[in-house]
Amino acid sequence: MSAQKKLYLKTYGCQMNVYDSSRMVDILTPLGYSPTQQPDDADLIILNTCHIREKATEKVFSDLGRLRPHKQAREKRGQQTILAVAGCVAQAEGEEITRRAPYVDIVFGPQTYHQLPEMIAQVTRKQDKKGRGILNIDFPSEPKFDSLPESNIPQGVTAFLTIQEGCDKFCRFCCVPYTRGAEFSRPIAEITQEARHLVAQDAKEITLLGQNVNAYHGLAPDGSTEEWGLGQLMNHISAIEGLERIRYTTSHPRDVDDQLIASHGQNPKVMPYIHLPVQSGSDSILALMNRKHTSDDYRRIIEKFRIARPDIAFSSDFIVGYPGETEADFEDTLRLVSEIKFSQAYSFKYSPRPGTPAAALEDQVPEAIKRERLERLQILLNQQQQDFNNSLVGTQQKILLEKPGRLQGQLIGRTVYLQVVHIQAPKHRVGRIVDVTITHTCHNTLHGSLL
Ligand code: 5AD
Ligand code: SF4
Repeated sequence: MSAQKKLYLKTYGCQMNVYDSSRMVDILTPLGYSPTQQPDDADLIILNTCHIREKATEKVFSDLGRLRPHKQAREKRGQQTILAVAGCVAQAEGEEITRRAPYVDIVFGPQTYHQLPEMIAQVTRKQDKKGRGILNIDFPSEPKFDSLPESNIPQGVTAFLTIQEGCDKFCRFCCVPYTRGAEFSRPIAEITQEARHLVAQDAKEITLLGQNVNAYHGLAPDGSTEEWGLGQLMNHISAIEGLERIRYTTSHPRDVDDQLIASHGQNPKVMPYIHLPVQSGSDSILALMNRKHTSDDYRRIIEKFRIARPDIAFSSDFIVGYPGETEADFEDTLRLVSEIKFSQAYSFKYSPRPGTPAAALEDQVPEAIKRERLERLQILLNQQQQDFNNSLVGTQQKILLEKPGRLQGQLIGRTVYLQVVHIQAPKHRVGRIVDVTITHTCHNTLHGSLL
């Protein structure tokens, strides 16, 4: 954790503003800000303004004029000061503030103070030359990949390769944009070299990792300034001989592009399985979460994947009991799940993460309701998982054998859909892809026999 940061907060006008100011302090405390009475050493200055009289507005501009030298003096010393104008003047005269006082970093109205963490993170990132700014958590000043020695520990048949870090999406429940900083993608050449290395150490499957992995946009390998997306990256590394399977996680619906969909249709090494979190089936909750997509956007994306690759299966993440979620909103989630049918999924009760905008919302859902909704959702998701598993019984599947099992002569492998399969097979076949008939299922494990 970095040092405490100082907050100078000046409140003008009515009781409402006094209340809003105390809420801002509540929201900012988990981010490491503590109040100060001295504007000259503040890291963050907020003027929570009142618009009731014209004189009040002029007072704000004259205060801004007085604060500017403090900000400039600190900048000369290499220290950031974020200057924000909140409240009714910000609401009514936002453009005027930007025009007359362009050194103001943030202007936000009375209803939006719960978005302060995101707004501050955005400004910090802009002011930080490398764009890596994050809140209250020390992050290496260079992208950490530059200093990561290539791993020499063999990962085995299935390997993970980080291609992207950080996130610019700012879902309001999530701490990643604050803890991991801005989105950063490794260059294609570097990833390819590491993928070759993993394959040389016997990896047959590589899972490309990133917090927002399909936002990937890495420098092309030809030395130009062109950037490639995830679909192009997968097509590029699929040329590596010996690499049989490519996966990636975790994706955001907003970053699914046609090239990614096409790679599932055209590239046999790209597995017909995608973990694509939707979080909720309710459009109003998705908007409150700042997910930047609707439930129908999600349905359309799923449809496109299915057209490109009819045998594709989907996994997802869900949050129940997000602040403000009604029974009707929750039923929209159940409806979406019933329509799409997931092969497996993760579901969570919403839990407030300090420093995130949603944690500061007042209409939190009672614990008992969250518990009850989670149970209902999980019954449905578990049923879908079982149905999916059972639908494979009697079929022939390609299984990548990963390791010996606990029983004598048993090997453990996975289907293209990532399900665990137990079979009887000799040990030397670890690392091979074999044809297996699925005989039965038990507790989400498939059992099969070698053809
Ligand atoms: N409460 C509950 N679930 C959360 N997730 C992220 N933040 C929260 C939170 N505050 C879940 C999301 C995400 C997954 C990795 O964790 O569903 O996709
Ligand atoms: Fe980013 Fe995923 Fe967190 Fe949203 S949930 S902010 S996409 S890491």
